[in-house]
Amino acid sequence: MSQSAPQRSLTASDIRARKGADPLVCLTAYTTPVAQLADAECDLVLVGDSVGMVLHGLPSTLDVTMEMMVMHGRAVSRGLHRALMVVDMPFGSYEESPAQAFRNAARLMAETGAGAVKLEGGAHMEDTIRFIVDRGIPVMAHIGLTPQAVNALGGYKVQGRGADAERITQDARAVTRAGAFSVVLEKVPATLADQITADIDIPTVGIGASAGCDGQILVIDDMLGLFDAFKPKFVKRYGDLASDARTAIRTYAEEVRARSFPAPEHVFSQEEPGK
Ligand code: KIV
Repeated sequence: MSQSAPQRSLTASDIRARKGADPLVCLTAYTTPVAQLADAECDLVLVGDSVGMVLHGLPSTLDVTMEMMVMHGRAVSRGLHRALMVVDMPFGSYEESPAQAFRNAARLMAETGAGAVKLEGGAHMEDTIRFIVDRGIPVMAHIGLTPQAVNALGGYKVQGRGADAERITQDARAVTRAGAFSVVLEKVPATLADQITADIDIPTVGIGASAGCDGQILVIDDMLGLFDAFKPKFVKRYGDLASDARTAIRTYAEEVRARSFPAPEHVFSQEEPGK
């Protein structure tokens, strides 16, 4: 099923052109109503594979499928009018070969109406990113802590400390050479994020990196306090929605049990006759 690409005001080229200018405001979204809320303030909305953990209760992003990304991409697309929509390529959908990556990136673009895809990996993904970009699909890269590689990295640890900084710097240069329009820097020391931001000519979007990046991104359920199973140290909560929801559900349950829930007669008596 294909979804015709909707006209949105921001494109990957617009995001690319924001290098060194006003910081890019970015959030994830997975549903239409949340996408509508994010669209009011965001330049870029990512349908992240974090959807697997925050909406589907999966233990990591490794079990996320193309079907899940298509379904959530379609939902988010309906809620966006201004922000660029980027859809994550799930684990196993792009690592095998540039041809496999292009085939799945093209499917995500065609079936969701996305304006770009994102994939994880630096130097080892350089050829793949170039292959996709050369065929007309804008790519956002993602380096530093790459959650799909959690098993190889030995956990969700800070990347690029000490001598490892050179590896992340080379990753940033490789994805820039390959033609990525921007790059997510996840969980790297602030000094390194600042150096990379100064070193490459595409926008860096930080998450647990540095306020000096060209933009910031957070998982929306984390920043709203809606997903409170655990909180990465770098996440600032701007809301406490899980706690608000618990209070609302408890109040409802208490009213139902106490039979103080508004009775139908009470509701109907306020409406016009015959309705
Ligand atoms: O999947 C996701 O939400 C992400 C962001 C954390 C950048 O990749």
